[in-house]
Order: sequence, then C-alpha cells, then structure tokens
Amino acid sequence: MVKVIFANITNTITPNTPDTPDTPDTPDSVVNILSRRLAIEAEKHNVPLESSDILDRTINQKKFSEGTFKSVYTAPGMDYVVQVFKDLSISTLEARIKETVCCLKTKNLENTCQIRSVYTDENDDIIGISMDKYSQTLKDFAFASRSQITGEQKYKLVLDLVKGVKGLHDVGFAHCDLSEVNLMVNVTSEYLPDGSETPELVVIDFGKAEFINRDDVLAWSVDIPTNDRLERLPLVESRLDHGYKLYRSAETLPRKRGDRDARNPIDPCAEDVYGVGVLIWRIFSGQSPWGGVLDTDIRKLYEIINNPQSIDFYINKVNGATSQELLRKCLTVTSKSRIDISSLLDFLLRYKNVLISEWTTTGRKTKEAAKLKISTANKRNKRRRIFK
Ligand SMILES: Nc1ncnc2c1ncn2[C@@H]1O[C@H](COP(=O)(O)OP(=O)(O)OP(=O)(O)O)[C@@H](O)[C@H]1O
Ligand SMILES: [Mg+2]
Repeated sequence: MVKVIFANITNTITPNTPDTPDTPDTPDSVVNILSRRLAIEAEKHNVPLESSDILDRTINQKKFSEGTFKSVYTAPGMDYVVQVFKDLSISTLEARIKETVCCLKTKNLENTCQIRSVYTDENDDIIGISMDKYSQTLKDFAFASRSQITGEQKYKLVLDLVKGVKGLHDVGFAHCDLSEVNLMVNVTSEYLPDGSETPELVVIDFGKAEFINRDDVLAWSVDIPTNDRLERLPLVESRLDHGYKLYRSAETLPRKRGDRDARNPIDPCAEDVYGVGVLIWRIFSGQSPWGGVLDTDIRKLYEIINNPQSIDFYINKVNGATSQELLRKCLTVTSKSRIDISSLLDFLLRYKNVLISEWTTTGRKTKEAAKLKISTANKRNKRRRIFK
C-alpha cells in the first residue's frame, strides 16, 4: 500500500536563500529547499511521496536490471519497477532532482514512462522513484530478436518515438540520452492492418535531460545559475557524451577517447532530433547507419557525420525516396538546418502510407519474417473467432 507523506507545504520557497543573511548557503539547505519544492511538484501531479521503509522492503526483491546511475528492482506479479539511485551524494543531487521532475512533468503524457511514486529518506532527500513496468527495451524488441518486425510495426514504433520526444520538448526539456535501451516497448493485444501485433513505445531515463526554460533552470539548479547560462537558453553548455556515440551529432560527438574539450553551446532539442533520426534509420533498416561503422571508431564516425557529402552518400543508398528525405531532415551536420520535432511529426503523419510501403520492403529477411509474424497473428485471430 502507498503511504502518502505529503507535508503541509506552501509554495513560498525563495531559491537558494540562506536562513539568515550572514550565513552562507550550505549544501543541507539546498537539499532542503529542493526537496520541499519537489514535494510540491509531486503533489501538483498527484504523485505520492513514499518513505524509505517501503523501499527497503521492495528492494529485498531480486535486482531486475542495472543502469549506470540506477539499480532497477521488480518482482513477479508487480506491475511497476523501483529505480533506486546508486549514488546519493550532494554531487548527484541535481541529476536526481532533474530526473524526478522530468518524470513528473511527463505524467499522463503519451509515449513517456509513467511515474507512480517518489521515495525519500528521513531527511527528505530523494533516493528513488517507481514507475510502470514495460516488457522489453527497443533493442530487444526490434534489433536483438531473430524475427524481423513488419512495415506497420516499424511505422508505429517511429510514430511513438517522435510523439514521445515531442512530448518532452513541449513540457520544457530535451532528453539528451536517446538510445535503444532508453526506449521501452510493450506489445499490446491489438493488431495492426497487416495482422501484426501492435507495439507501444515509451521514452525512459531522464538522467541527462536539459531544461530549456528559464523558470525550470532557476527552480531546479543546485548552484545559482549564471546570467550567461540563463540568457543563452534554450541553448545549453555542450557536454561531450561518451555513452551511445552513434546517436550524437557532430556537435557533441567526442573527437577522441577521453575528449572533454568544451565546444560551443548546443541546441539540446536539435540533438534529440539527430538521435531520433539515427533510431528511425535503425528501426526501419534493422541495421546500423553509415555502412555499419562502429561507434568505437570515433575518428571515422566523425569524418562521416561532419561532412554533408558523406552523409548524402550513405543516405542515397537507403531504399525509398521518402525515407531518404526523412533522414536528410534529421541527420544534418549542424543543428541550424535540422527539422524540429513538431515538423517531423507532421512529415510522418503526411507520408504514413508511403513510408510503411518503403519500410515493408526494407530490412533483413523482411518478406519471410513478416509472413511468419502475420500468419501467427492470423492464427491467433482465427482461434479467438472460434472461441467467441
Ligand atoms: N519502467 C521500466 N520497466 C522495465 N524495465 C526498465 C524500466 N526502467 C528501467 N528499466 C531497465 O533498466 C535499465 C536501466 O534503467 P535506466 O536507463 O533508467 O537507468 P540508468 O542508470 O540511467 O541507465 P544508463 O546506463 O542508460 O544511464 C533500462 O535500460 C531497462 O532495461
Ligand atoms: Mg538508461
């Protein structure tokens, strides 16, 4: 049972204000202010705060999965997972708060993970969250499985992905860590027009998100944000990402191992669109883009994605003029010439039929596998009709 422990809080917190004018701000007071503000935000979204005693009991269960920053727990019969932050130090406070706030902001938004509760310890520090459980990662559903997904299924996954990312941008943050393991898929009991099962995709893991609105940056930063930082929004400082490098544009891809050299500020929403472009390419082709270059070969990868001619060279090999056009809109060298997520959604809706048709004939062993999936679905439908 969920134990609701909302304190009777009013929204009168002044950002980073010391208790007395002469006392410098201490990490403790920052924790306190941010925790109270977070409790208000949770209440606004009707998400309960739970105490760490409940968490202790839940995490006696077997560990289900392990990320870099979180341990994920669930148990058979549980329809949710508990994500516990591994490092609870002051240095991770902003990331923990940010992840939780982003989950709250996307409550009830389609194609985004759905938070159920926030766990805090006896000092009101945030230690974890719980959310709905999803059955598999996009990697397992679309890339690791031996059977190929159908054209209709590819379109549905891509549509959900774009709707999900648009939802994040609409509520004021960019994901900044899109990859095939930060997207989860449930297979529903519905069927698509080609007889295949309807997948449903949601975006998870907001640990590297970037707020794009001034109010959020002011409300959720541990340090007082500088004027420079506030004035350049929605651009943010570029953090070179050594995680899933295939999804990074030329503006954020490290140039070599260990590269931490600061670059110009970047547009984090445009970075997301680049990542979405790579994911779309992977989903419909079942293969890695850029002729399968490995993301460990940073030099080669950078040479390709930093050159419009080489980008074109690889995109020209893709099956279907509309798929090529779609990729060209997302996979640009600089963010200025890149499509935004709303226009990308419009494009997808407008060219639905032609994209499905191009994606039905693209990919490994497509025809045989599609036939297999469809015939399985048809058999199941037939059985259902018999039992009605
Ligand atoms: N709601 C969920 N339902 C099912 N599995 C989940 C859920 N949330 C997370 N997982 C699993 O746990 C993994 C790690 O979760 P998550 O990506 O949130 O943690 P992380 O530590 O931030 O990861 P990363 O290593 O990507 O930084 C996911 O890739 C997924 O396999
Ligand atoms: Mg992750």
